[in-house]
Amino acid sequence: MKAIFLVKNGTSKNTFEFREINKPTLQDDEVGIQVEASGINFADVMARLGNYQDCPPLPTIIGYEAVGRVESIGKKIKNVQVGDRVLVFTRFGGYSQYVVQKENAIAKISEEMDAGKALALATQYSTAFYACSVATNVLPNETVLIHAGAGGVGTALIQLCKLKQAKIYTTAGSESKLAYCKQQGADYTINYTKEDFSKVIKEPIDVAFDSLGADNFRKSYKLLNRGGRIVGYGASSMSEAKNVFMKAKMGAAFGIYHPAQLLMESRSMIGVNMLRIADYKPDTLKYCMESVIQLLHEEKINPHVGKMYAASEIATAHDDMLARKTIGKIGIVW
Ligand SMILES: NC(=O)c1ccc[n+]([C@@H]2O[C@H](COP(=O)([O-])OP(=O)(O)OC[C@H]3O[C@@H](n4cnc5c(N)ncnc54)[C@H](OP(=O)(O)O)[C@@H]3O)[C@@H](O)[C@H]2O)c1
Repeated sequence: MKAIFLVKNGTSKNTFEFREINKPTLQDDEVGIQVEASGINFADVMARLGNYQDCPPLPTIIGYEAVGRVESIGKKIKNVQVGDRVLVFTRFGGYSQYVVQKENAIAKISEEMDAGKALALATQYSTAFYACSVATNVLPNETVLIHAGAGGVGTALIQLCKLKQAKIYTTAGSESKLAYCKQQGADYTINYTKEDFSKVIKEPIDVAFDSLGADNFRKSYKLLNRGGRIVGYGASSMSEAKNVFMKAKMGAAFGIYHPAQLLMESRSMIGVNMLRIADYKPDTLKYCMESVIQLLHEEKINPHVGKMYAASEIATAHDDMLARKTIGKIGIVW
């Protein structure tokens, strides 16, 4: 059994090591899974760069999700059986040929389901579903603003908000990504490397989804309608901060807000961190995962798999994601 360990922070080349692992003894409430493919998320890149405070001490195995087959189950397991094909939200530990997880972070999937599409559901679609259905409940005809629409969560948000009949503005960093966002269901697209979205958008936004952070968050907040909601669920732009001063500057660029201001303006600010949801509300995570699996079975959503790399190409996959070359979901195949 092999796993990819993150052994130090830095550039992708020398930070990963393939190591042999032993299968741990299962607790009564745990499931052991033989992995066929592992997902890659932007948070993994942040962890590698040393910009992710939730990352366990190194050396560690990162990775939020895996698809595989149940190999063994603890005595108390009721809902999955040995041999089932499953999607598992691993909460770190995903870059491995074998993972152990509790039942409420595991969902059965069909034999036919494409592994890459399934991987997109665990973290990216579940985050998007939580953001637009649980945290903000986007309503028909509401205007939504989705940043980085061609990314994994961005794609999921476009598809889910389209299902909710929202009017969708999305930003992305290249013309080909904008064309992709339109294919996914965006009504208006803005290339934020060429235009300032806060000047281009001429109507109030009901719900904004921000994954970039810093001044992108502040500008999005300013566009909010009365009754508007903004979800902050990432800080991708912070990956560009070269030192602690730049980090502090970008942190300050989020803006300063007072609860009374939110009350007077009737605007809401919502932070989403699916790790916290997994830790404190595991049934909510399960609900989100099962909801998006159901939507895929009903063909109401269709995750886009940008590329599945061989496990040995993990460094290249990380480089491509940080260089913004990837579209939709990426992962590795064992
Ligand atoms: N809070 C949570 O629970 C949660 C869960 C999942 C993901 N996230 C966050 O959501 C965001 C998207 O995650 P993902 O897995 O969907 O990633 P992804 O597929 O790589 O999408 C991220 C996109 O962000 C854009 N981007 C903007 N600034 C960037 C920068 N400085 N470096 C690299 N890319 C940049 C890029 O698109 P353009 O080229 O179009 O700019 C990139 O394609 C990340 O911030 C991630 O940390 C949060």
